[in-house]
Amino acid sequence: MKRTIALAAGLSMCWAAQALAAGELNIYSSRHYDTDERLYSNFEEKYGIKINRIEDGASKLIARIEAEGENSPADLLITVDAGRLWLATEKGMFQPISSGALEETIPAHLRHPMGHWFGFSQRARVIFYDKDRVNPEDIQTYEALADPKLEGMVCTRTSGNIYMLSLMSALIAHKGADDAKAWAEGVWNNRARNPEGGDTDQLRGIASGQCAIAVANTYYFARALRKDVRGLDNPDDTSRIGVVFPNQDSFGTHVNISGAGVLKNAPNKDNAVLFLEYLTTPEAQAYFSEGNDEYPVVGGVDKAESLKTLGEFKADTLDLTALGENQAQARLLYDEVGFQ
Ligand SMILES: [Fe+2]
Repeated sequence: MKRTIALAAGLSMCWAAQALAAGELNIYSSRHYDTDERLYSNFEEKYGIKINRIEDGASKLIARIEAEGENSPADLLITVDAGRLWLATEKGMFQPISSGALEETIPAHLRHPMGHWFGFSQRARVIFYDKDRVNPEDIQTYEALADPKLEGMVCTRTSGNIYMLSLMSALIAHKGADDAKAWAEGVWNNRARNPEGGDTDQLRGIASGQCAIAVANTYYFARALRKDVRGLDNPDDTSRIGVVFPNQDSFGTHVNISGAGVLKNAPNKDNAVLFLEYLTTPEAQAYFSEGNDEYPVVGGVDKAESLKTLGEFKADTLDLTALGENQAQARLLYDEVGFQ
């Protein structure tokens, strides 16, 4: 008798919890772009689901979810770079999601094969150059950045940065470890200064004359073209900067994603899947593109004007899982050649 009561009490608590949970979605996100606010508010209005958000760095969020364990309220982890999504997958944090809408709209190489994570926007890592100092014919490939004739000209972030690790991981996948290591050594030898700052700082390096060539993601330059306050100090400096989409005659320009996965213990799994599906709608895809100058992953969605200015390019279609799988080796190879 006692046991039945306990069971019944347990059940009713369960129902109460579910009723509360039905209208909510808990997102842990390392994206911190103001323009994403519209993505969230539109979803809330459209579906009557309240979004609770915690924003922090990807590593901190991953550690937090691990610490919370089975009791974690997190439904979705949103982050940038496939390398980070891979890490969360390796830790067993996501659950596989099967959704026709997601599988039909997102190209296979931009999502996890078992549905642990999905990419929602793309960014290309490209080569920028000082039009006064560099002939773009000399920098048509990533490999060219290692050519000794560019000695003292190249600026990058530190090798421990996830964007640099993912680029190196892609080169390992395409060219093998030996070539990738030789590449890293060549780029290091060509450095204009020791690596410092974020991607915008590499562009500032061109504007100030310290760097002739810089490696950075497309959206940092695109936002400067829009004369966005987060761009260069003097947005007019963009007129001095040229852009090359590397490796158009081989494997294509390295791209990465913003993506998300549904967490293993998600209390609101259905809402999480609904949100992922919402992110593939033309409306949400346009927010990514217009709001943060990222490339849509869904075909047929119009790009932001700033991206149209940069022009069309052939993107690398490497399965992004490789970026995570090769990450440890990428780190090792950078270290072996002393790339800071
Ligand atoms: Fe970034």
